[in-house]
Amino acid sequence: MSLWHTVVQPCAAMTSSKRVLIWDIPVRLLHLVLAGSISVALIIALGFGKEHPLFVYHAWFGMLAGGALGVRLVLGFAGSRYARFSAWKFSPRALIASFGAMRRGDRGVRDAGHNPSASWVMLGILVLTGAVLGTGLAGGEDIHEIAAYVLLAFIGLHLAGLVVHTIWHREVIALSMVDGKKVAPAEAALRHASPVVGVMVALLLASWGVVLVRGFDAAAGTLRLPFLAQPISLVEDDEKGGGEGKRGADHDDD
Ligand code: HEM
Ligand code: HEM
Repeated sequence: MSLWHTVVQPCAAMTSSKRVLIWDIPVRLLHLVLAGSISVALIIALGFGKEHPLFVYHAWFGMLAGGALGVRLVLGFAGSRYARFSAWKFSPRALIASFGAMRRGDRGVRDAGHNPSASWVMLGILVLTGAVLGTGLAGGEDIHEIAAYVLLAFIGLHLAGLVVHTIWHREVIALSMVDGKKVAPAEAALRHASPVVGVMVALLLASWGVVLVRGFDAAAGTLRLPFLAQPISLVEDDEKGGGEGKRGADHDDD
């Protein structure tokens, strides 16, 4: 018997009747773009390495993740109920209580939005993504790589948390980022999935994608953004013959 047959399938059947809307369309869309672009950036960097011709696309996908991160941060203050950072559970007491409930075997303690551990892990992912982008743009090579590995560790924690939740609460939690629904009391449900904001977020991301495509020069390894006077270098400076170690804006002094 596989894990799917013994755990996942019965859990899905048990919980499907009590699932209510928690994650609106903007949250799910941003999760898709953020997780997708970070994964591609990581796969190119770690799977192919910086000598590979595909490496120039690594930073391109990193910049796409940057757009998604920016929009997600705005929704953290102006988004729907569970998308707001004020709804995330950062109190150490709540964190200790949730582990205490697990130790007692009390499966009744559950949260509609992010639980305390998830809140900290998600905050870590957002902050670390910002740090990886900042260090990538600034040319802090070692620190960029270290920040990327710490981000990878947090993504590992995130995925491990999903597995623990799935087994402990007998709920296939991964589905919640697809259809937006989690097991929760009916009164905790969002009234709607914010389709209008979803369209606005999609248009914003698509516009950022167009800016990134139009400004991208794969041969030169640069990205020209309309609001910056100089293009951004997307590869190590010595790969382009610069060797100054500082990335960010290119200089015409060679
Ligand atoms: C590079 C990979 C990933 C990154 C960077 C990432 C990042 C995040 C972030 C930032 C959140 C918070 C969502 C928000 O409030 O906007 C989140 C939540 C979530 N993610 Fe991911 N994620 C990744 C991969 C995945 C995968 C592969 C799955 C499914 C198999 C997944 C399923 C979920 C679910 C279900 C939640 C909500 C958890 C909860 O209810 O507390 N994620 N993720
Ligand atoms: C989510 C976004 C990103 C992730 C996860 C990420 C991850 C990584 C990793 C793991 C490496 C080490 C690869 C190796 O040693 O072979 C690396 C290298 C590099 N990254 Fe990124 N990166 C991101 C975004 C960016 C951005 C936005 C830029 C530039 C605009 C950038 C520029 C570079 C460059 C030039 C290198 C090679 C030199 C170095 O180690 O610093 N990255 N990145």
